[in-house]
Amino acid sequence: MDKRIISPGMAPDDVKEKSLRPTTLEDYVGQKSNIEQLSIFIEAAKMRNSPLDHTLLYGPPGLGKTTLAGIIAHEMGVNFKVTSGPAIERPGDLAAILSGLRPGDILFIDEIHRLNRTVEEVLYPALEDYALDIMIGKGPAARSVRLELSPFTLIGATTRAGDLSGPLRDRFGIILRLELYTPEELEVILARSAKVLEVDLLKEAAKEIAKRSRGTPRIVNRLLRRVSDYALVTNDGVIDTKLADHALDRLEIDALGLDQIDIKLLRIMAEVFDGGPVGIETLAASSGEERGTIEDVYEPYLLQIGFLKRTARGRVLLSKAYTHLGLPPRLEQDMFIFDEEEDEDIGL
Ligand SMILES: Nc1ncnc2c1ncn2[C@@H]1O[C@H](COP(=O)(O)OP(=O)(O)O)[C@@H](O)[C@H]1O
Ligand SMILES: [Mg+2]
Repeated sequence: MDKRIISPGMAPDDVKEKSLRPTTLEDYVGQKSNIEQLSIFIEAAKMRNSPLDHTLLYGPPGLGKTTLAGIIAHEMGVNFKVTSGPAIERPGDLAAILSGLRPGDILFIDEIHRLNRTVEEVLYPALEDYALDIMIGKGPAARSVRLELSPFTLIGATTRAGDLSGPLRDRFGIILRLELYTPEELEVILARSAKVLEVDLLKEAAKEIAKRSRGTPRIVNRLLRRVSDYALVTNDGVIDTKLADHALDRLEIDALGLDQIDIKLLRIMAEVFDGGPVGIETLAASSGEERGTIEDVYEPYLLQIGFLKRTARGRVLLSKAYTHLGLPPRLEQDMFIFDEEEDEDIGL
C-alpha cells in the first residue's frame, strides 16, 4: 500500500473519511456540469418510475466516484450494493449478486476495468435485458436457460476508462468524467470537514491546505486531519496559517502540493531527458514508479498545474516546472508544436 501522505488512493486511516462523506447531491461540492446532468437524469427516472440508466464514473482516485454513487442511490431512494471488479472472481459470483437485486437497486462495481472477461460476459445480458443466461448440463445435453432479473442500475467506477472493453463501455447510458477540483471548491469541502471534525480552521489556513491538495478531496481531508493533530497538540486546536504551513512542511509537501516523487519525476525529465518528449514507459523504467501510478496519480495534477504537456510523442516538461525546480526555464519547450495531443478522453 502506498503510504505517501498525498497519495489519492485509500489509506488505512481514511476509513475515518466515511464521516466526511456527503450523502446528498446538495452537499456534494463541485463537478458542476456532471451534477447538473445527473440531477436531470435522476429526476426523469423518478418521473418515469424506472431505474436510472447504467452509469459509468471515471477519473483519478479520490475525486468522489464512490461518494457520488452512494448519493445517486440516496437521491433515487433505492438500495445501494457495493462490490468491486477484483472481488468478483467467477461468473457464478456475479450471477449470485445479480439475482439477489431487488427492483430499482443500484449495484456499484468499483474498479470495473478489472472485471475478467468471463464475468463481463454475464453482465452483458443483465445490463441489456435484465436477464441471466445460465448453462445447464454438459456436452451435447447442455442447454442455456434464461433467468429474469429485477430491473436495476449498474454504476461502474474506474480510474481508467480506456481499459474498459468496448462492449462494456457501450452498455452505459450515462458516462461522466470527474475533474480535479479547484482550490476554491476544496476550501468549501474543508470548511464542511472542519465542522464535522470540530476543529477551528481559519480561512487563510484553509486556503493554504487547499492549495497543497492537488485538486483532490481525499487529500484535502487527509491533510486536514494531519494538521488538526498538530493544532490540537501545539495550538489549542486552532489551525492558522503559521500552523498549517509548519505542519505541511513537516509532511514534506511543498507549496504546490508536490512531494518527493513528483519532484523526482520532474527532475528525471529535466536532467535525464532534457525536458522530453519522453515516453511513459521510459519514464516509468527510469524512475522506478509504475506506469499506471504515474498516469493515474502524478500526471493528472502535473498536467493541471501546467508543468507537463502530454503529446503523441511523449511527455514534455514546460517552463513552469523548470522554474519550480530552480532550473533555468526552457521556454522553447512550451513552443514545441507537436502532433495532436494524445487523446485521453474516451470519445464521448
Ligand atoms: N464532491 C465532493 N464534495 C465533498 N467531499 C467529497 C467530494 N468528493 C469526494 N469527497 C471526499 O473525498 C473522499 C474520497 O472520495 P471517494 O468518493 O472515496 O473518491 P473515489 O471513489 O473517486 O476514489 C470522500 O470520503 C469525501 O469525504
Ligand atoms: Mg472509490
